[in-house]
Amino acid sequence: LTVGGNNVVSMSERGDQALLQIWNATGDEASNALAAELGIAQVSRRGDNPDSLYLFYENDCLVLGRSPSTREKPVAVDFVAQQRDHHRGKELLLKAIGGRRAGLTVVDATAGLGRDSYLLAGYGAHVTLCERNPVVAALLADGLARGRTAPEVADVVANMRLQPLAAQAYLESLAGAPLPPDVVYLDPMFPESGKSALVKKEMRLFHSLVGKDEDAAEVLAAALDVAKHRVVVKRPPHAAPLRGKAPQFAISGKAVRYDVYPLKAFAK
Ligand SMILES: C[S@@+](CC[C@H](N)C(=O)[O-])C[C@H]1O[C@@H](n2cnc3c(N)ncnc32)[C@H](O)[C@@H]1O
Repeated sequence: LTVGGNNVVSMSERGDQALLQIWNATGDEASNALAAELGIAQVSRRGDNPDSLYLFYENDCLVLGRSPSTREKPVAVDFVAQQRDHHRGKELLLKAIGGRRAGLTVVDATAGLGRDSYLLAGYGAHVTLCERNPVVAALLADGLARGRTAPEVADVVANMRLQPLAAQAYLESLAGAPLPPDVVYLDPMFPESGKSALVKKEMRLFHSLVGKDEDAAEVLAAALDVAKHRVVVKRPPHAAPLRGKAPQFAISGKAVRYDVYPLKAFAK
């Protein structure tokens, strides 16, 4: 399915075209507006096809889910839940971006559901979130709008700005800008996840929506052209670095590795 030249739904794991519809049981206005914006058909009932995907509003929150028979947990962008669940660990991402710095600007080139962007904004960075998949961008826009009015997270979400487009285009638009981003961060979809089975299950829905990110090396090249201080790439622990360029160093944990490409030292 293509919307405005963008791939909205990629092939499912079994190779057939996943079907995405807006489930609007009550004919509500927000769903009508979203259907018009994304050019996606609406249905009043969800069917039983386990491959079908549905976007719908649940308690004023936009979610992506499947048929109820799959018992798969729907996906939404919920920064309040993330804030509540957050257990401060080793903060590897903070180390990878070079620590807390006043006024740090970060482009998250592959924003996805905005979890890493929220962490980055929580470290005090001003974060621009690039997301090219229009459905994921709609989930993000909805999560950001709710976050802006939720007292627990509003101050962090105020540091987050969505650019619903491909990172290559956004980064190229910054070439020669007087204030390039200090850091560009990339977390491209990886085909074989080294993460736990549970996380894998949670991510299955997301995977069937966005597919693999085959052009990540291209984004890395654009990032290296534009970033001022460093580019950081998230990888599974034992994966090869992104094609094209080996990092200067890496920050590694049990479940994740951050490959760091330093460009210009930060001022002390
Ligand atoms: C693995 S997910 C990122 C998850 C994210 N780090 C988080 O914490 O929720 C990758 C996302 O990047 C998006 N993406 C991949 N390549 C992109 C590109 N070149 N420009 C913009 N978005 C891209 C995909 O659509 C997908 O939503």
